[in-house]
Amino acid sequence: MATSVQRNLTDSRPQASSAMLKPGPQIVPSAVAETANAVRVRGLSRRFGSRDVLQNLNVDIAAGEFVALLGASGCGKSTLLRILADLDREFSGDVEVPHRRAVAFQAPRLLPWKTVWRNVVLGLPGGADRKRALEALEEVGIGHRADQWPKVLSGGEAQRASLARALVREPDLLLLDEPFAALDALTRIKAQELVGELWQRHGCAVLLVTHDVEEAVLLSDRVLVMKDGIIAHQEVIDLPRQRDVADPVFAKIRGNLLDCLGVRHGTHGNS
Ligand SMILES: Nc1ncnc2c1ncn2[C@@H]1O[C@H](COP(=O)(O)OP(=O)(O)OP(=O)(O)O)[C@@H](O)[C@H]1O
Ligand SMILES: [Mg+2]
Repeated sequence: MATSVQRNLTDSRPQASSAMLKPGPQIVPSAVAETANAVRVRGLSRRFGSRDVLQNLNVDIAAGEFVALLGASGCGKSTLLRILADLDREFSGDVEVPHRRAVAFQAPRLLPWKTVWRNVVLGLPGGADRKRALEALEEVGIGHRADQWPKVLSGGEAQRASLARALVREPDLLLLDEPFAALDALTRIKAQELVGELWQRHGCAVLLVTHDVEEAVLLSDRVLVMKDGIIAHQEVIDLPRQRDVADPVFAKIRGNLLDCLGVRHGTHGNS
């Protein structure tokens, strides 16, 4: 069921601070503190050559909200995420994001010549704080790997290290681009559970790019579908956590999303 209802905030979640950053030249910083949005995007367009990938896109993410983003391969999901992460400034439109953001990609992107704990605090203001790195690594369950080299980590451990590196920055907005896509099924389920727990503990807003409809419905407050350069559809997931994939309401939402993605209802698990 399509809906435009916006999730309400709870008091326990951190409010977007007044320290909002302009990633591009055309930002309107004033409105954010009033609306308690973590992300406010208006009229965002991005062109590569002659191709308009994002076309006047609007999106809001509330402080502390968990939002998943689905869409066909090549539709522009990572393009949007990169702009929100301030990794791409060649856009037009207004983008407001929290000053404290962190990003984790499908590939953990650990530097092979630095130990795991040094990777976690790499580039952090205040320098290489081992204690902070250890706390973050403990939180994601791999404190015992702190002094090892990235090459000895399993795929799941490396992804946990990548999450620790994001969380140690205490972000108000966590941007995740298919972080579980390269993991085997069991590791993936554990990583999904971990992200759900970390989100509840840290209370940051999350934008999770994924191709997995079930994952999106399991974890999110709201699922967005990108198509033709805009957010074409959204589903508010008004289901209590822990969610059950066998719940008829869950199945209905998943079916709606699969329909929206053009995947035939009931025959596939993913987009
Ligand atoms: N730096 C770039 N130069 C030229 N074209 C680009 C660049 N970055 C992205 N594109 C193009 O923009 C389109 C959207 O790319 P994007 O990576 O955002 O897709 P996506 O939705 O994340 O896809 P996937 O699900 O496969 O990761 C693609 O056609 C891609 O080729
Ligand atoms: Mg992508």
